[in-house]
Amino acid sequence: MEDKKLIFSGIQPTGTFTLGNYIGAVRNWKPLQEEYNCIYCVVDMHAITVRQDPVKLRQNTLNSYALLMACGIDVEKSILFIQSHVKTHAELSWILGCNTQFGELSRMTQFKDKSQRHADDVNSGLFTYPVLMAADILAYNADLVPVGVDQKQHLELARNIAQRFNQRYGDFFKLPEPYIAEIGAKVMSLQDPTKKMSKSDDNPNAVILILDDKDTIIRKFKRAVTDSDTEVCYRDGKDGINNLMTIYSSVTGKNFTEIESEFSGKGYGDFKLAVGEAVADHLEPIRTEFARLSADKAYLKKCYTEGAEKALRYSQRIVSKVYRKVGFVDRT
Ligand code: TRP
Repeated sequence: MEDKKLIFSGIQPTGTFTLGNYIGAVRNWKPLQEEYNCIYCVVDMHAITVRQDPVKLRQNTLNSYALLMACGIDVEKSILFIQSHVKTHAELSWILGCNTQFGELSRMTQFKDKSQRHADDVNSGLFTYPVLMAADILAYNADLVPVGVDQKQHLELARNIAQRFNQRYGDFFKLPEPYIAEIGAKVMSLQDPTKKMSKSDDNPNAVILILDDKDTIIRKFKRAVTDSDTEVCYRDGKDGINNLMTIYSSVTGKNFTEIESEFSGKGYGDFKLAVGEAVADHLEPIRTEFARLSADKAYLKKCYTEGAEKALRYSQRIVSKVYRKVGFVDRT
């Protein structure tokens, strides 16, 4: 690879992304490919830290992979692979775990949240989740990691682990920096715009999935919760309208002033319909490409097999050096 900075990011294999995942994260992964060497990974090993149905996990992993391609991740430009295909992640994770303190992991807010939500299954994978995430990143010595705010604490921990390793064994790992996208707006629930849009929302009308068809998208936007005012403008307290404006802006490229004048004198009904149509039109090519890729299983397989080979070759060099540094005997 050329001498560009290296980006690494991972995404959970949920099978389909929400409009929030898309606008806030995945969408920004595509332009990064022009400026950086990018490595993107579907993290099926992280997924099993909570109970999964094996049949669904396999399907969702493949769908997530195809969906990333449909969103413009180009397997010629970037390395796109499935985490469990590349053994170095688990190998490095063990070593990093031996350089991570129990206390540090106990302080992770995601662990605290998830162990409350899944109180019947507080397994040790859930606890060491951030160690595996650190291994994902450090196995490639990545410079930059695009993450949402909810993952910043994990990235901070990855830096601390890398730093501690460097102190113990001699300078080796780069300290990965968070990459915060300039755009990457946060998308809120359509039914309760004070809450983040989340796939696990009980109310399906709260969430746009990027594979929803046009009618579904328009219907959900028509039902979006707004306020009792009538003016389309971005103001404190108008959470619903602010969210719709953010969404409209990010799919059309129009700024808030332009949107305000476009809808001045028009009602919320017209605005919601316009947002629905703009989102549906924006997502249409992704849906089409996803359908095309999903139908071509052989091509998809070729892509993830080659992706795994490239990822293994890249990370093996780094992890072999780590093995030597900690004092493991050379196998050959
Ligand atoms: N924990 C991340 C999330 O849930 C996913 C992830 C796994 C990740 N490994 C990573 C993100 C490495 C960035 C880098 O969103």
